[in-house]
Amino acid sequence: MSLEIRQITDEEVEASEFITAYSFNSPERRDLTKAVERSKSFYPTGWSLASFEDGEMTAFVRSIPFAARINGRGLSYAAVGPVVSLPQHRRKGHVGAILRQFLEQMRENGQVLSGLHTPHPTLYQRYGWEIASMAHTFKFPPKEIHFKSEPKDRGYIRMLKADDWAQANRVYRLHSAKRNGPLHRGEVWWRQAIFGGGFLPDPSDVALWEDATGEPQGYVVYYQPARPQPHESEFWVREIVALTTDAYLNLLLYIVRHDLPKEIAINAAPDDPFYSLVDDARHVKVEEGYDLMNRIVDVEAALKLRPPANPELDLEFALQLSDRTAPWNEGTWLVNQSDGEIAVEKTNAAANLKMSTMTLAPLYNGFLTPTAAAFAGRVEADSEESLATADAFFATLHPPFCSDGF
Ligand SMILES: CC(C)(COP(=O)(O)OP(=O)(O)OC[C@H]1O[C@@H](n2cnc3c(N)ncnc32)[C@H](O)[C@@H]1OP(=O)(O)O)[C@@H](O)C(=O)NCCC(=O)NCCS
Repeated sequence: MSLEIRQITDEEVEASEFITAYSFNSPERRDLTKAVERSKSFYPTGWSLASFEDGEMTAFVRSIPFAARINGRGLSYAAVGPVVSLPQHRRKGHVGAILRQFLEQMRENGQVLSGLHTPHPTLYQRYGWEIASMAHTFKFPPKEIHFKSEPKDRGYIRMLKADDWAQANRVYRLHSAKRNGPLHRGEVWWRQAIFGGGFLPDPSDVALWEDATGEPQGYVVYYQPARPQPHESEFWVREIVALTTDAYLNLLLYIVRHDLPKEIAINAAPDDPFYSLVDDARHVKVEEGYDLMNRIVDVEAALKLRPPANPELDLEFALQLSDRTAPWNEGTWLVNQSDGEIAVEKTNAAANLKMSTMTLAPLYNGFLTPTAAAFAGRVEADSEESLATADAFFATLHPPFCSDGF
């Protein structure tokens, strides 16, 4: 039996879409026309790798080139998804082989980080991805919700159409300026994944808030599936992006005044102050779960490119890494921050900290501090001082959060 891993061709898009639709039990599996059309319009075959056993496609993975913000800087980021294989070919190691090959390819492409969403975290931990953000959802019956603060300026709400994507993008970029996790969204992504609804069966609504001077200061993306009984419907807020308090309060008021749905769910960043704004928190259910898994593809480049949260500090530590699936990351790295510049080089010095590259991923984007990781037994440190130095180095300005699905 021969196993080949390679990019798919245009003629093989249908087979890859069948594996995808079948694996996620999407209704599209019975008629692949739309899926094939979408794939050909939005996803170049060069972003794919598939496994072929004796010529038959058995598994398929796509890696979408993005940039993700880390302390505000956009770093080259490989967003992996879908990852699928045919049931009759599962547990043969085909997906694992594709992921290994993708890691090498990502490194060659200069993609220093990678991320994915999954219900199978243990699968990806085998290949160095680790949980690196949490998703919070606030759920409440809209009629029971009142706020403790009121906006000073009522401003204006304006519904946007896909052709207006640049107006939302401007606010999004300003909001992302110092954050961890947001992806750089281009026009195609705005049209297809945000306005178009992405994986959802219907498009999303997008409402922009402008202050009294007409300046856009925030927007909300939400989704209301069409239902014969509107009071039974779900109402899901995918993201609220606000540059000012008035934008935040007005957009929330706009959302809760949708008073027919039984329940509204708001997807929020970990530092979203929604809970402390509501006057009677008993009406709000909070759901939390792991969200993104990240992988440091190229440790040397990723450490060099990471903007320091505290550039005024001079810091140095030696970091020893193990990495079975990306051996180029292995060894001991001397990390030096001085005058706001970062230098990283291999060293023979004794390590101050020892961990796997997998453990480094949630430290890198500020999901976990080195001290907390050491407390959990995931980092070996030679002293408390070394941990404090690493805590200062890996400090972030905001907790990591990315509201994009891929
Ligand atoms: C999840 C899925 C892609 C795995 O595919 P597969 O072809 O079985 O994967 P492989 O055989 O290459 O397995 C690679 C490794 O992951 C492990 N693994 C496979 N599926 C796993 C799972 N669901 N949970 C944990 N580990 C898993 C395997 O045991 C193997 O580890 P090993 O080399 O140490 O034995 C496949 O089951 C699938 O398509 N499921 C439905 C769609 C889906 O859930 N996709 C993933 C969305 S992120």
